[in-house]
Amino acid sequence: MTRRILLIVGGGIAAYKACELIRLCRKAGIAVKCVLTGGGSHFVTPMTLAALSENQVHTTLWDLKDEAEMGHIQLSREADLVVVAPATADLLAKMAAGIADDLATTLLLATDKPVLAAPAMNVRMWQHAATRRNVARLRGDGVTVLEPDEGPMACGEYGPGRLPEPEAILVAIERALGGPPDRGRLAGKHILVTAGPTHEPIDPVRYIANRSSGRQGFAIAEALAALGARVTLVAGPVSIPTPAGVIRIDVETAREMAEAVAAALPADAAVMVAAVADWRAEAAAGQKIKKGEGGPPSLTLSENPDILAALAASPKRPRLVIGFAAETERVVEHATAKRQRKNADWIVANDVSGDVMGGEANTVHLVTAEGVEHWERLPKSEVAARLAARIADAL
Ligand code: C5P
Repeated sequence: MTRRILLIVGGGIAAYKACELIRLCRKAGIAVKCVLTGGGSHFVTPMTLAALSENQVHTTLWDLKDEAEMGHIQLSREADLVVVAPATADLLAKMAAGIADDLATTLLLATDKPVLAAPAMNVRMWQHAATRRNVARLRGDGVTVLEPDEGPMACGEYGPGRLPEPEAILVAIERALGGPPDRGRLAGKHILVTAGPTHEPIDPVRYIANRSSGRQGFAIAEALAALGARVTLVAGPVSIPTPAGVIRIDVETAREMAEAVAAALPADAAVMVAAVADWRAEAAAGQKIKKGEGGPPSLTLSENPDILAALAASPKRPRLVIGFAAETERVVEHATAKRQRKNADWIVANDVSGDVMGGEANTVHLVTAEGVEHWERLPKSEVAARLAARIADAL
């Protein structure tokens, strides 16, 4: 049976991305019927949406020909899912308050189907207490509100508030619709992934870092989301795009990462791929350290929290805790000891003496309580897909 969504296109510059979303949905075999708000019609035309969806587009309550038949009620119920993209601050506020003063908001109040909202707005609007409140209330009401992407905005500012990419919205739609066949093995599971390096400040302009690119962790987050998991990706400073359907939390330091991990619990599984800095400068200078006559300054280090070990020891320990071990010698031996020392269920060990860090491929060994598996050299995406499949088996 054809899966059907009702797509409400709100008034924001990101409305143009709704066009691409329609195309992707159609390609995935999902039928789309569009409702364009008054604001939305300033950015895209009904003609564009009609051509892409190959369906009539509705714009006002009064264009539903025969209201004697309660056309708006029918429209709100004939789809399997109602999607709001872009969901403006105004639309979210009206949804949260139950206001029904145009076709879109009336449908949202009248529907008996699940609702998914993909917000897009200026960063300050997204962070405003009123929007935070509205989003929390909507989530409490059972509406799936996606996290917006972070980046440069049309208004010239920078931060969270960009509409998630259409591919990511499609993943969320697929998940809300129960997932396409064979992609829902991790549906209903929440999996936490850490990725990338951490940066530990020495002063406002200098920091301690490592060569981790974040690629393997991002690939794992993507592979888990592709199996239908709800994935929270806590990412250190890296410049790679957020995988489709993944909720990303950006952090800089190990201590920020530890906090973000704790805040994301509970989770069914955790895959700690991040190359967390073992040490930080004991006291980061408030001002740039000047080159002085007394010679180079000395740097006193202190130890960072071990996020993996703390998670494995926590009362909220996920059922499956997976660590990574980057080693340059005696890889399996060190990984086996690490598994026990940190109380992880599995350790994925890799030899980073070559070009693994920042490279595209990886040779890994999976160390579990049952023994060690040696995987052949594989692209990082393939390592991720295999690991995701193993996680699905285990959960
Ligand atoms: O001890 P080592 O750093 O080699 O352990 C690597 C594993 O531990 C990885 O899974 C890494 O994400 C995690 N780790 C951590 N917090 C630290 C250090 C490592 O979560 N401070």
